[in-house]
Amino acid sequence: MNAIDRNDDASLAEVSAEPILQLIDGFRRSKTLFAAARLGIFDGQRPEGDGVQRLLETCVVLGLLKKQGREYVNTRLADQYLRRSSPQSLYGYIEHSNSVLYPLWAHLENAVLDGGNRWRQTFGAEAAAASRRQLHGGEGFLRGMHGLGLLSSLAVAAAFDLSRYQRLVDLGGATGHLALAVKERYPKIEAIVLDLPPVIELARQHAGDRVQLVAGDFLNDPLPAADLFALGRILHSRREDEIRKLLTKLHDALPPDGGILIVETLLREDGPAHGYLQSLNMLVCTDGRERTLQEYSRLLFEAGFKKICGKITGVPLDAILATK
Ligand SMILES: C[S@@+](CC[C@H](N)C(=O)[O-])C[C@H]1O[C@@H](n2cnc3c(N)ncnc32)[C@H](O)[C@@H]1O
Repeated sequence: MNAIDRNDDASLAEVSAEPILQLIDGFRRSKTLFAAARLGIFDGQRPEGDGVQRLLETCVVLGLLKKQGREYVNTRLADQYLRRSSPQSLYGYIEHSNSVLYPLWAHLENAVLDGGNRWRQTFGAEAAAASRRQLHGGEGFLRGMHGLGLLSSLAVAAAFDLSRYQRLVDLGGATGHLALAVKERYPKIEAIVLDLPPVIELARQHAGDRVQLVAGDFLNDPLPAADLFALGRILHSRREDEIRKLLTKLHDALPPDGGILIVETLLREDGPAHGYLQSLNMLVCTDGRERTLQEYSRLLFEAGFKKICGKITGVPLDAILATK
């Protein structure tokens, strides 16, 4: 007898189907948001088209637009996070989700069964290489990382007492939002962002001269001196052997008592679904996955770190401080 046969009519009647209906609707909500953002709806554009009115009305019921007389205007939520010119805009991440993640997720079943990312299957061999390049230095992707990172960086900077550190190097620090948040909380700290050369140019536009910017490759180049390295959303996209190598390199480069600040979403069985969905996201688009604090701790201990503290921040990204 299979599981379906065990449910008689009475027990089925007791359970509402609403959660399932919500899940089915989930992709429709996402795609409505993606389409409206790409069409510039939250930037005041009103393109011609038979379906535009329907899209506007749907944005109203989703809380993204409101009606003022015969006009549709942004709600506060949309104005803060969806308008492209807003400093807190999530437009970059929405556009990345629409053009890259949404097609990759269409092959989730294959990723689950075969265990590998879906770039080649989704975009073909050459497009896959181009798309991977955009993940490491593509402006759209980095704008997405910036908007999303801003939601967490202040809480991450406040997660531990970092006052004893003098020199932070944020490896793969992109636009510098974490380095700036740490600098704001600890003005005496010297904050440096190291990233690949094209990204450093973009970082200059965001961070100006408020932090030092260094072009480099944290895997292959010698690392700048630091008593605190940060790794924000770097480990979750990598295989364990790559993580081991990188953590060992950082451990060797740190002085005694030096630290490493890891910024990732920590998986918890009693935590929000976001972490697990994000881990499936890593499955379709990288060679990595999200991990529990215990899993990160094991990797850190193996690399020689002695004291490891994890902090659930309440914002999308959590933090781990590991000390040599
Ligand atoms: C997922 S983004 C995370 C950016 C930032 N840490 C954050 O959390 O917003 C990964 C970053 O690592 C950088 N990166 C990847 N490989 C790198 C390498 N070998 N050396 C330096 N930077 C690298 C990419 O250019 C990108 O800016």
